Amino acid sequence: MTTRTTLWLLLSTLAATPALAQAPLNPAQCGRRVALTLGLPWRAQRLGEPPQAQVRELLKKPEVVTTFAHFVNSRFNDLPGDRPEDDPVIPMIRYVFSNDLPWRDVFVGRVKFVGAGGYPRIEADPTAPALGYFASLPWQKRYAGNEEAGWMLQAAYRTLQNTTGLALEPSPVNGQGDATATGRERAECRSCHYDTAWALDKVARLLPVRVGLGNRAVITQKPVTPQVLFGGATITDHEQLVQALVTSQAFTFWSCRLAFEFTFGRPESSCEAPLFDACADTLERTGRMQDALATLLESPAFCGGTP
Ligand code: HEC
Repeated sequence: MTTRTTLWLLLSTLAATPALAQAPLNPAQCGRRVALTLGLPWRAQRLGEPPQAQVRELLKKPEVVTTFAHFVNSRFNDLPGDRPEDDPVIPMIRYVFSNDLPWRDVFVGRVKFVGAGGYPRIEADPTAPALGYFASLPWQKRYAGNEEAGWMLQAAYRTLQNTTGLALEPSPVNGQGDATATGRERAECRSCHYDTAWALDKVARLLPVRVGLGNRAVITQKPVTPQVLFGGATITDHEQLVQALVTSQAFTFWSCRLAFEFTFGRPESSCEAPLFDACADTLERTGRMQDALATLLESPAFCGGTP
């Protein structure tokens, strides 16, 4: 038998296997799936109404927003923070959802961090820089790193990862040889640190700097030298950097990937491109993550049936 015949036979067997065709869930099953995804008891839904028709209402519930905020926080950080104020992503998402603000305000909203006992509560502050939780001092300290001159390479990487999903795996050899700014210009370092469109060292030059080490470290904003990033754009300061990131296509793509993973518990596959596009179109049109999530949760794909 030739390979092609084997393949054809295999495909025809697959097509004829009814178990593989996903049947739509009945309303009770669908209701359970909605509840599980949103972290709600099933009684949170109104009986007798199709569960998917209630999704937009449910997305307004504080406990659902908290579930989503914790999910996103787990994607933005490798580990949970030591103290609540080290995870400002969570209250920031609550603030943006409860005030019906665009999703990008998580990263560029003008806010101040208040609240007793170090617990972060977030309020609008028109005089604050447009930096969302990136302006939070505990967050900046968490990712200050230990670079010799105080450039916050960890914060630079988190800023890129959180806004665009960029994933870099620093290799164990990073610790070898000269790790200073000059050392990072070596061939084995410069791809990530200087040469690419999202070069870490250039991004770090736009961020505040760390002075000192450990608990005594202080974060200050020094005068900034403009940097050419993202394939030719001259970026003059921290705010402009984040603004460029959240207006990129990568931002929309990554935001919908987060929405998709939250909804389906896995990344999208290529045959789900139309549904993914619907999410991206919605996010670009209304700017609201609630709408992007609703697009996915209300889709036929969510409760079984064909996408
Ligand atoms: C594949 C991309 C990549 C390459 C290649 C790379 N790095 Fe990095 N580097 C990173 C990332 C990502 C971070 C931020 C790590 C983090 O957030 O924990 C980083 C951070 C650093 C830091 C700051 C560490 C800290 O805790 O503050 C130093 C110093 C460093 N790299 C030196 C080097 C040197 C020296 C080389 C070459 C021998 C190198 N790197 C090659 C991706 C890279």
